[in-house]
Amino acid sequence: MAAAAGPADLATIAKKWKDKRGSLIMALHDLQGRYGYVPRDAAQELGKHLDVPLARIYEVITFYNYFKLEAPGKHIISVCMGTACYLKGAPEIIAKLSDKLGVKAGETTPDKQFHLQQVRCIGCCGLAPVVTVNEKVLAKVKAADVVDQVYACTKGA
Ligand code: FES
Repeated sequence: MAAAAGPADLATIAKKWKDKRGSLIMALHDLQGRYGYVPRDAAQELGKHLDVPLARIYEVITFYNYFKLEAPGKHIISVCMGTACYLKGAPEIIAKLSDKLGVKAGETTPDKQFHLQQVRCIGCCGLAPVVTVNEKVLAKVKAADVVDQVYACTKGA
């Protein structure tokens, strides 16, 4: 997501679900929540943590229509709606982005440049409110600045 799900996040996701029923599906759900889709590299890394072969992961991903293998847009903008971010203005941030891009959360602009999504706590509440643009984390974001910040991150990319 992709958002800010690096290797450390994948370990955290795997740890969270490892011993639970339906762990693979739940972990993939979490992963897609971060990225907006399930990138191959991340799926492979997750599989290592969960001791599940990549082939099995792909069986699951392709069986359920819910999972996406392709990025829904060139740039994935994720607005954290966890409690800390929510209380510090995430709803205004998402409203601003939604207004500017002309899409609601969960939608992709018609030119496929931007996919806007809400995510649950991404684990850096001290930086709330947090927005991620692909791999980049924007901290203490203000609704008034978010559009410029997002465009600055994606310029030339
Ligand atoms: S609530 Fe947003 S990072 Fe934790």
